[in-house]
Amino acid sequence: MTAGPPLVVGVTGASGAPYAVRLIRALAELEVPTHLILSGHGWRLLRLEAGIGSEEELRARVGGDWGAIRLFTNDDRGAQPASGSAPSRGMVVCPCSMGTLAAIAHGHSRSLIERAADVTLKERRRLVLVPRETPLSEVHLTNMLSVTRAGATVLPAAPGFYGDPDGIDDLTDFIVARVLDHMGIDHGLGPRWKGEG
Ligand SMILES: Cc1cc2nc3c(=O)[nH]c(=O)nc-3n(C[C@H](O)[C@H](O)[C@H](O)COP(=O)(O)O)c2cc1C
Repeated sequence: MTAGPPLVVGVTGASGAPYAVRLIRALAELEVPTHLILSGHGWRLLRLEAGIGSEEELRARVGGDWGAIRLFTNDDRGAQPASGSAPSRGMVVCPCSMGTLAAIAHGHSRSLIERAADVTLKERRRLVLVPRETPLSEVHLTNMLSVTRAGATVLPAAPGFYGDPDGIDDLTDFIVARVLDHMGIDHGLGPRWKGEG
């Protein structure tokens, strides 16, 4: 297992369940200690877009070693990721709904995901948010600016096509690779741009 404090991963109800599954699988394969939290709508989207309806089904889909992953319930704002005194290497919310992004922008902390993100910002740790929405309203853009000013990285689920992707898996890997890059986690996902030709 990779040494060091856990990465907190939130999964919320924006379209993009394959990104969440791929990210969790990559972290399991890399044996990165992970504290995983899914919102109610995160589970709903996992069911709808990936056919995953329970922790057992998620474990089966992720495969590999689940030993480094610990699942928390989103209601429990007293769990470990809710406190700044609990070490972490930062947090990723992938995918991140506009609702959760708004709550983070305003410090609501009404769920463990929101609280853990709030803690990540106050502790000046890395926070990466992966929203998926289109088009964007002024409210969305303002909230994205607020979290960026507070120290978060907004990394939209907008994969590039310059790497000649073969299909959905390659496009999914593109985003997960950028997330891992921003968290400072070494990985072998997807090609890196080396210039044309
Ligand atoms: C099928 C489906 C797709 C959705 N897609 C998105 C989306 O792409 N982006 C988004 O911000 N919200 C989306 N939503 C709405 C959120 O799930 C909803 O605002 C929810 O309250 C978010 O709660 P959470 O952030 O606690 O998961 C979707 C909802 C459903 C049911």
